[in-house]
Amino acid sequence: MKRKPMGAILLSAAVVLGAAGCHPPGKPGFRPETMRPDQTLKFDVLYKSNCSACHGDQGLNGAGLPMNNPVYLAWAGHDHLVKIVSNGIPNTLMPAFAYSGGGFLSDQQVENIVNGMISHWGKSGASDAANTPGYTPSSKGDVAAGKTAFQMHCARCHGDEGQGPSPGASKPAHAATGSIVDPTFLALVSDQGLRDIVVSGLPGEGMPDWRGGRTAQPMTDKDVTDVVAWLTSHRVQSPGQPFPGSPPASAEPPAKGK
Ligand code: HEC
Ligand code: HEC
Repeated sequence: MKRKPMGAILLSAAVVLGAAGCHPPGKPGFRPETMRPDQTLKFDVLYKSNCSACHGDQGLNGAGLPMNNPVYLAWAGHDHLVKIVSNGIPNTLMPAFAYSGGGFLSDQQVENIVNGMISHWGKSGASDAANTPGYTPSSKGDVAAGKTAFQMHCARCHGDEGQGPSPGASKPAHAATGSIVDPTFLALVSDQGLRDIVVSGLPGEGMPDWRGGRTAQPMTDKDVTDVVAWLTSHRVQSPGQPFPGSPPASAEPPAKGK
């Protein structure tokens, strides 16, 4: 199937849902083999038509958080995942999918998506260590401590200031490419979204989880909270305006005729 824009998928879901309840008497309704993706209970079809555009085919390498991550799935947990998929996350691009949240999926379909992610991509106990940072922060973030924790746990891959590794610097195989203190990036991700990444890592891209990979010190709950506070201290009022590195507005225009 060619990828449809989100709106088209939702519209066709509405049309079919409306039609399904009132087929003429004597005529059969949709049979399982002719079921449309918006009615199916199958995980693969549900995931592909509702989630893969943002979270990646097979749950990896999408623009959103990878779902194909045993640590994330175990850490967030079944009940919480159902809540998020049903209700979405306000002020982010994560939509609500359940009828009750204004979406187009039944509670059973939401349940099957979550159970399917857990059975395909999960591993029980993947985040069971006694010192696993909590899903929600238990302290108020400390920006200065966050900068220190960033230097210790993140700078080797993200550069000292989070701007990306300096060209020519010796860096690990999986060093990041872009800036994670770019206000435009920070405008598109919530504090919790950053916490998700820091705690559960990005398995498709080689970013380790809170344990930091084999050679590193694990992060504490406070380290995670502080690092997120330091990252979000780079948010600006009007994201998308020229970055600090670009020439000031008052700079001389380029000389003509060159
Ligand atoms: C239009 C894009 C989009 C679609 C479609 C989408 N998501 Fe998301 N999702 C996001 C974004 C963006 C975030 C991160 C939001 C943030 O910054 O907290 C997210 C976050 C999540 C989270 C993490 C929540 C947390 O903070 O722990 C889960 C779980 C999730 N999505 C599951 C799904 C599932 C399952 C589907 C399909 C039913 C889906 N998403 C469809 C964009 C999308
Ligand atoms: C071993 C290397 C490595 C370490 C250590 C590491 N990261 Fe990453 N991180 C990556 C890679 C690779 C990506 C993928 C994006 C890229 O290439 O820029 C990434 C992506 C991210 C992103 C998402 C960027 C985006 O554009 O979606 C955030 C946020 C992030 N890292 C924060 C951190 C923080 C905070 C720490 C320390 C607690 C950390 N990372 C430690 C390698 C690492």
